[in-house]
Formats: sequence, C-alpha cells, structure tokens
Amino acid sequence: MTSAILVLPGDNIGPEIIDEAVKVLRAVIVKFGLDVEIKFADLGGAAFDKAGEPCPSDTMALAHQSRAILLGAVGGPKWDGLERELRPEQGLLKLRSQLGLFANLRPAIMYPQLCTTSSLKPEIVSGLDILIIRELVGGIYFGEPRGIRVLENGEREGFNTYKYSESEIRRIGRVAFEAALIRGRRLCSVDKSNVLEATALWRETITELASEYPAVELAHMYVDNAAMQLIKEPKQFDVVVTGNMFGDILSDAAAMLTGSIGMLPSASLDKNGRGLYEPCHGSAPDIVGTQKANPLATILSVAMMMRYSFHRTDIADTIELAVNEVLDNGLRTPDIMSDSMTMVTTREIGDAVTARI
Ligand code: IPM
Ligand code: MG
Repeated sequence: MTSAILVLPGDNIGPEIIDEAVKVLRAVIVKFGLDVEIKFADLGGAAFDKAGEPCPSDTMALAHQSRAILLGAVGGPKWDGLERELRPEQGLLKLRSQLGLFANLRPAIMYPQLCTTSSLKPEIVSGLDILIIRELVGGIYFGEPRGIRVLENGEREGFNTYKYSESEIRRIGRVAFEAALIRGRRLCSVDKSNVLEATALWRETITELASEYPAVELAHMYVDNAAMQLIKEPKQFDVVVTGNMFGDILSDAAAMLTGSIGMLPSASLDKNGRGLYEPCHGSAPDIVGTQKANPLATILSVAMMMRYSFHRTDIADTIELAVNEVLDNGLRTPDIMSDSMTMVTTREIGDAVTARI
C-alpha cells in the first residue's frame, strides 16, 4: 500500500473543517518527516455538482490507491431532492462498502475542560471514555431486497432487509474484543435479540467468540435499554459493539454526552489497516461560511489516522495533546462555549492547534 492520503472535503462546512485538519496534517508531516503525499478529490454533493454522481470513479480510484482517507462531511438540503442513488450520502456509503471499511470506531471521550458543556450533570459524564464499535458495511443499510413497491391494493410499501452472516458478526466481534483487551477489558454487545432473528444470531455468535477472549468481560444489552443506560449511567460502558443502524443512533447519543458532536472523530477500517477518517457530525448547512464550525473532531480524526493507519502513536499523542492545550487555553467554538471562555473561529482553533504541533 502506498503512503498517500486522500482528502475529501465534501459539502457545506466540510471544506472549512478540512482546511484546519489539513493544516495540522501538514504540520505533523513536516515535524515528524513523514513520507506521505496528500491528494484531494470530490465526494458527495460537491462531486455531484461537478461530475453528476456523488462518488465518481476517479475519486474511487484514488481512494483505492491511498493508505488513508480524510473526509469532511457530505450532504445538505441542496441535494435532498435528487434521486436516492445520486444523493451525497450514497457517495459515502459506496466508499465505505467498496473499500470494505467494516469496522467503525467512534470514541466518546469527555475532555475535562468541557465537563460543563454537556447537557448531563458533570458527575455523570466526567472521565467518560467509551468506544463504540459499529459494523459499517452490512445490516439494514445494505441488505437486499430493498425498495418501495406497489401492493395489490395500490398502496405503496417501503421495505428493507436486516441481515448479518456469522462471518460478518465474527469479523466485527474480533475488532471489539481486541479493542477491549487494550482498554478496560469490558465489552457490551448491543442487539434486539428479543425481537429480531438477525440480532439473535448476533448475540449467539458474539457469545461463542467470547471463549477466545477469556480476559474480556462480555455483557449483552438490548438496544432500547442501551440507549437509556447511555444517558443514565454512561460510565458503565467501556467498549460497545453493535450493528450498523444501532451504531449510527447510539454513537450520536454518546457524542452528546461529551458536550458536542463537534468533538467526536471516527475511524472506519478495513482488514488491512486502510482507513477512512471523518468527524461523526454532519455537514451543518445552517452554519456554512460562518466560521462557527468546530474543526476539532476532524483534527482528532487525523490523530486517529496516525494511530490506526500509520501506527504512529507518538504523532497521534502529539495532536491530541495540542488539542488539549488549546482547550486549556479557553479557546472555544460556539458549540463548546461556556462562561469565561474565549469564542473564536474555526480558523483560529485550527491555527492554535497547528502552532502547538
Ligand atoms: C454517520 C452518518 C451517515 C450514516 C450518513 C451521512 C449516511 O449519519 O456516519 O453516522 O448514517 O452512517
Ligand atoms: Mg450518523
């Protein structure tokens, strides 16, 4: 695999946050003498506007040639009226699926400096450190058959298929057990096995896998209870593993525990360590061009890239330390603003982190 990094700014605030993350990326490349090349391409609505499709073949070809991909965000009302296959989100789903990026890691970490920005009481969230591992290329997001059909009575019916094979479950299960081993050694598998067969098989398969990881304490939870427990007592969780749709929902909830989804990075990995790194938040069309977007989730995604695709813990630590120092200094975008802090722009946050690299 080459050492190229492909940058996909995407839509709305995507280019603004990517500008700052790329500044940080270039700074670590210089400081640590990394031999990598940065390339840029379009994805999402930006790609549709230029090429008529959300994930054009040249973007896909560059992605296949890269070790890591850094993505801003895709989507926005401008493209909502398009046919489903042409929508920006489909570009992202195609990229995830064609690159086999099955393991989505979404850490929800409470930065002590932001403890009062969470909507929950500080004692509930202080010290929070959860890793949600979401299966990303299967489940109901990709299950066939799917569609909208006309019934005999003339009424339309929408349908999707929720399915997981044992090998798909084992593959994501292993990532989760391995992650738990190097963290707090506790894994909670989330399913709806009281109602859905596909997730009953999920529970059975994860339970079988547990015999290979005796050092990890495995628990199971239904997704509705997990949603409640995340809000009630989030610190009971260490690593959470779940399917595509439940992971989408629970990771947004977990993000809000930390004060702002603007702080949450993510990594989506294939079996060889190629990864797509992106903030967990969306493209925020309401604040595009205002310099109000928080670039830290994207900057922290660069740290994850260094850790998982380049195996450079030292560089990841440097970036995370720089982010911590910027928060210590009281610089805040509106989403993480609190009393006596200094409100600054997207660019000022990016510059401040870069200066500390
Ligand atoms: C996410 C997003 C995506 C998803 C959308 C944009 C398709 O919500 O990464 O969580 O549902 O996976
Ligand atoms: Mg989501």
